[in-house]
Amino acid sequence: MPINDLARALALQREDLHRAIDAVLARGRLVHGPEHAAFERDLAACVGVAHAVGVASGTDALELALRAVRTDGRDVVVTVANAGGYASVAARRAGLRVRYCDVDPGTHLLDPAHLAGVLDAEVCAVVVTHLYGRLADVAAVRAVVEPWGAAVIEDCAQAFGAVRGGARGGVHAGSLGDAAAFSFSPTKNLGALGDGGAVTTDRADVAARVTRLRQYGWGEKYRIVDDGGRNSRLDEIQAAVLRYRMPLVAAGNARRREVIARYAAAAPASVRVLDAVGPEHAAHLAVVEADDAARLAAHLRTWGIMSEVHYPVPDHHQPAFLTEGRSPVSLPVTESLVGRVLSLPCFPELTDAEIERVCRALAAY
Ligand SMILES: Cc1ncc(COP(=O)(O)O)c(C=O)c1O
Repeated sequence: MPINDLARALALQREDLHRAIDAVLARGRLVHGPEHAAFERDLAACVGVAHAVGVASGTDALELALRAVRTDGRDVVVTVANAGGYASVAARRAGLRVRYCDVDPGTHLLDPAHLAGVLDAEVCAVVVTHLYGRLADVAAVRAVVEPWGAAVIEDCAQAFGAVRGGARGGVHAGSLGDAAAFSFSPTKNLGALGDGGAVTTDRADVAARVTRLRQYGWGEKYRIVDDGGRNSRLDEIQAAVLRYRMPLVAAGNARRREVIARYAAAAPASVRVLDAVGPEHAAHLAVVEADDAARLAAHLRTWGIMSEVHYPVPDHHQPAFLTEGRSPVSLPVTESLVGRVLSLPCFPELTDAEIERVCRALAAY
C-alpha cells in the first residue's frame, strides 16, 4: 500500500480534467491568460485575502514573498528546522541568512516561546510553517515578532483549506501573516498536474512586488524595475486544473482527517498519532511518533504498508548548510524528533479496507 497514489484521483477526474485542459487548448493562451487571472481571483476569495499571485512553485512563492516583504538591509530569516528545508532554500536563494527556532514537542510547530530568544534587529522575516497541515498559532507568533518590526510569512504548502472558526466567515491558512506561500505540487491537498505555487496577501505593496518579481522584475513589458526577478509563471493548464480541483479539497481534507482519526483509535500506546481534529487541520500527512521509527517502518513493510519520514535531516544538519562541517546551533526538541517521526498512508482515495489494514498493523506493533 503506497503512502500516496495520485493515479486514483486522476482516474476519477479524468474526463473533467480533459475538459478543463481542452478549453485552454482551444483558446490558445498558454501563460498568464484568463484561467490564470480567474485562478488568482478564486484563490484570493477562498483564502479570504485581497490578493493572490500565481507563481511556478512553493519554493518560488517563499523566495518571492521574502524578497517582497524586505524593505531595509536586515537579512536574517527565522524559521523551523524540521519542515523539509524549503524555507531555508528559498531564503538562501534570496541572499538571506537563516536562523532556526525550536518547535513545540506536542505539535512539532514553531514554538513562540522559543522564538522570543531568537529574534533581534537583524531579522527581516519569520516563516511559520503549518506543518503536516496543522494551522499554527500565527497570532501568538505575530505578538512576539511585532516589537521587532519583522514580517511574518506563512508556509501553507501542506495546509490548503485549513480554517479556524468554520468554513464560512472563518480564518483560513494564508490570511494570517504579511504574506503566505502555497505549493500546488502534485501530492499537495490542492495539487496541479505538475508544479505550481502562489503568494497570498492583504498587502497591495507585497502583491505588486511579487507580481513584478515573478516576471523578470518587469514594471511593464521589457522594463525591469525590480532587481532579483525571475521567470516564475503558473501556466494556463495548471491554473485550469487548480480551478477545477479547488472546490473538491474540503471533502478530501475531511476524508484525510477521518483516516488519521482511525489510525489514532487503533494505535498502541507506544505509537503517538499526531491528531488532526476539525477543519483547523488540513491533514496533509498522517504523522506518528515512536521510539524507533525505523523499526515501526520495517514492521509496517511486513504488512505491505509503505511509510516515509518527513523529514529525516533537520535543516541545521543539512550537509550543504553546515559551516566547517558542523552546526553552530542546538535545537533540543527538533533534534529529539529525529528517528521518531514516520508518515503513514494518507490520501482521500484510500479504501476502507486499506485503512483497516493499517489499523490492524498498528495494533499488532
Ligand atoms: C512545507 C513545504 N514548504 C514548501 C514546499 C515547496 O513547494 P514546491 O515543491 O512547490 O517548491 C513544500 C513541498 O514541496 C513543503 O512541503
